[in-house]
Amino acid sequence: MSNKLATITGVQGYVPEDILTNKDLEKMVDTNDEWIQSRTGIKERRILKGEGLAASDMGVEMVKGLLEKTNTKPEEVEMLLCATITGDMIFPDTANTICDKAGIKNAFGYDINAACSGFLYALTTGAKFIETGTYKKVIIIGLDFMSSILDYTDRTTCIIFGDGGGAVMLEPREDGTGVQDQVLKADGSGREFLHMKAGGSLRPPTAETVANNEHYVYQEGRTVFKHAVKSMASTVMEVMKRNNLTNDDIDWLVPHQANIRIIKSVASVCDFPMEKVVVNIEKYGNTTAGTLPLCLWDWEPRLKKGDKLLLTAFGGGFTWGTIYLVWGYDTPS
Ligand code: COA
Repeated sequence: MSNKLATITGVQGYVPEDILTNKDLEKMVDTNDEWIQSRTGIKERRILKGEGLAASDMGVEMVKGLLEKTNTKPEEVEMLLCATITGDMIFPDTANTICDKAGIKNAFGYDINAACSGFLYALTTGAKFIETGTYKKVIIIGLDFMSSILDYTDRTTCIIFGDGGGAVMLEPREDGTGVQDQVLKADGSGREFLHMKAGGSLRPPTAETVANNEHYVYQEGRTVFKHAVKSMASTVMEVMKRNNLTNDDIDWLVPHQANIRIIKSVASVCDFPMEKVVVNIEKYGNTTAGTLPLCLWDWEPRLKKGDKLLLTAFGGGFTWGTIYLVWGYDTPS
């Protein structure tokens, strides 16, 4: 049996230029900066603006940057997975649109719809194609264009989410770095608490669904909050236990950026000091499938080859899980 693992050999994030601050939101809904910061930790988020722009346009920026950074020609890429719930169209998938726009001609790919856990699901799937020796260059993207599905008259949801994400290159390595293990879970009965009511085959779009605001994110925040803390913490502890890891062994806990109170609760339940917890929610809000690669991109200069990371997320579905990986490179300063 080979000891080939799928190692992240580069990461490239992308966020749109336009910034939506809490002060801006004060002018749109009945809210205030103090409430948003104290309840969520968010100060601002990025919004994709521009006629005809879609999720794939953010994906192309990520992929082009990633190819340049990793010295990869587009034709060398063999597989591209895109975790998103805000693809350009219901079909075809955005992964293939991104390949087309980025000049990636020799790859196949598809989208993965697992909401905020999408990057974990996609990274795990891509890693298997590397571990088995099937492919040598796989791109995993996590991104969302949340402002396209937000009701900017609903203060309980529009303050939370933003646009953006990131892409990573996966390549085989035999030096002990790479994806080591994962615990991924799902419970479809959670769908009632976080979903979009219409637009799918259950409720195809009609004038009525549009008039009833059914094409936006619907969420029961408190229920999602409780499940998020419990589920992320339990899979973090399960992964650590089965890999004989103590908290001292872990260099960075990288949690989905949903709410700073969720992040702090997970850290506290799992007994991690906040110095080891990656947090950038104040800048970008919750970018759904985009938060984990955006965290890796922001932290890349601080990550060292051999660092042990736990990536954890929870989202609509419900879906959740934790991946344990060993970082593969030092970033030249
Ligand atoms: N500004 C001001 N007040 C607001 C508000 C806003 N933007 N949004 C809600 N409120 C009000 C509510 O109406 C409620 O008022 P009431 O007590 O008079 O009824 C009060 O604030 C408390 O609401 P509640 O929903 O209990 O607040 P909360 O502390 O649970 O925070 C969320 C709300 C949404 C921030 C929080 O539940 C959360 O983050 N949940 C998880 C969401 C998430 O991460 N989802 C993504 C998938 S992981």
